Amino acid sequence: MPVTQPSPRTRSRLAFLGLLGASAIGGVIAVAQFLKPREKSRVIRVGHLRDFAAGADPVVFRTDGAASLLQIPGHNQMFYVVRLSGHDARINGDGGQSGVVALASYCTHLGCTIPWRPEFTYDRQEGWFRCPCHGVTCTRAGARVFGPAPRGMDSHPVEIRSD
Ligand code: FES
Repeated sequence: MPVTQPSPRTRSRLAFLGLLGASAIGGVIAVAQFLKPREKSRVIRVGHLRDFAAGADPVVFRTDGAASLLQIPGHNQMFYVVRLSGHDARINGDGGQSGVVALASYCTHLGCTIPWRPEFTYDRQEGWFRCPCHGVTCTRAGARVFGPAPRGMDSHPVEIRSD
């Protein structure tokens, strides 16, 4: 039985319909992703205010609320709790004020995990958040002082309750 080849015009139509179908499938997937319920924000209790000394090194937590002594490279499901001292306000004039901040552990440049480096010296001071990927450097308050990130570290809302 002879097999006939589709004409160039038919091949073009088939290719067009294939692209149209792929685009439609992509559109359906995008709409489904948009409509998918998002994870609700949640409260993570990290401890008593007295557990965080003013001016001490940031304490790293996992997003499940457990304190973690390890800073796991590439693990962005972490955040830092920092109790600032008045001294932090003097770092380049943009370090913040006394109080408590919770800082996201991802770098706002390209998303690497940004570790706290107590031994790292910059501008004749020790102790900075320093990204290993491209060198973004931030104060204890998360303010960017060096590197290609468009902003400082992202923060989470902090609530201090009387109980
Ligand atoms: Fe942190 Fe580029 S990802 S400096």
